Amino acid sequence: MSNPFKYGGIVTKGSFCNRKKELTDLSRAMQNGDRLFLYSERRLGKTSLVKLALSRLPKGEYLWAYVDLWPTDDEASFAVAVAKAITESLASTPNKMLAVGKSFFGGLAPTVTTDSSGNPQISFSLRGDGRSVPELLDVLKAPEEIAKRRNRKVVMVFDEFQRILEYGSDKTERTLRSVIQDQENVSFIFLGSRKHLIQKMFLDQNRPLYRAGGHYPLGSIETRAWLPFIQSRFTKTEKRIAPSVIKELCKKTGGHPFYTQHLCHAVWEICDRGAEVLGETVEMAINLLLERESYAYTALWESFAVNQRRFLSGLVQEPSGVEIFGALFIRKNNLSSASSVQRVVENLLDRDVIDREDGSYFIADRFFQLWVQGRVG
Ligand SMILES: Nc1ncnc2c1ncn2[C@@H]1O[C@H](COP(=O)(O)OP(=O)(O)O)[C@@H](O)[C@H]1O
Ligand SMILES: [Mg+2]
Repeated sequence: MSNPFKYGGIVTKGSFCNRKKELTDLSRAMQNGDRLFLYSERRLGKTSLVKLALSRLPKGEYLWAYVDLWPTDDEASFAVAVAKAITESLASTPNKMLAVGKSFFGGLAPTVTTDSSGNPQISFSLRGDGRSVPELLDVLKAPEEIAKRRNRKVVMVFDEFQRILEYGSDKTERTLRSVIQDQENVSFIFLGSRKHLIQKMFLDQNRPLYRAGGHYPLGSIETRAWLPFIQSRFTKTEKRIAPSVIKELCKKTGGHPFYTQHLCHAVWEICDRGAEVLGETVEMAINLLLERESYAYTALWESFAVNQRRFLSGLVQEPSGVEIFGALFIRKNNLSSASSVQRVVENLLDRDVIDREDGSYFIADRFFQLWVQGRVG
């Protein structure tokens, strides 16, 4: 029997837990032609969520393109990635791809080849030296053009959108700003996994995309939703787990989708068929996982300055919402002053070691959090 818990890749319908409200909200935004920034820390389920929402759009009424910006690093690669995603969403045979490529992105010299498994691949190339990309505007105008010509609504998704902050100029942001303002039949969904960067992008008055859309922070999944999800997966594979144990497990991961699935996966592995998962089983699984990460976590720990270690050690011992700039926390953890805590926090936020939600701070990697707790406890 194979392990029913999936972690790492995108999860689809069969492995997808709840998010009913988020799915409804996202579908509505797509259907209304909204602009929306959906953001969270890494591995909270943005890509899975948006792909599920896309797959549920009424066929025949919508066209959509999903653009992963992770591999891009400048305007040129951005333009090519968008053109490629649009073409592939409209056509799947070589001839049709070429026709679509030529009709919407003729300036990018489309060619079609087949890859080793026989699938057609469209490629584009840019004129010029890559520094100025006159094609960018044409590429970004294509969605509206497609909506008109095909009489459909179009949804454009840009995943890992924070990448565009590393392009070296804000030309892509500016161009986007100008085109998304008047594309009536197109919805733009921007996904970002570096929360503070995405927030900065649309809350900073000096940035081109300032208030260019709604914002939608994605949170963890509630224990209430995990309970039936986790229990049924154990039951179906002839293992048992009590609700109280699931609750304990979710407390350890904070309901974070990736860490919860990861921990369940490990717990499932060490529980024999026909047996019951106990509190100790969960502890054992955690120790196993932390042992596997021990080398990486030790290296990470050693990369911190003394103040940062003190701060983190202090943080994991307090309940969430602790006043980290307060005199008590500072004194307890030997942290000289509030301004020095400020510097520590800024640096750790910047490196995505910690994160902030509703004014309280926590370590982003829930397993690292448990590792640090193990060190000080
Ligand atoms: N709704 C969900 N139900 C169950 N597990 C989920 C869900 N969303 C995400 N996950 C878990 O989190 C992992 C990362 O999801 P992903 O969509 O890639 O997140 P992100 O795009 O935010 O980095 C998945 O491999 C899966 O283990
Ligand atoms: Mg993702």
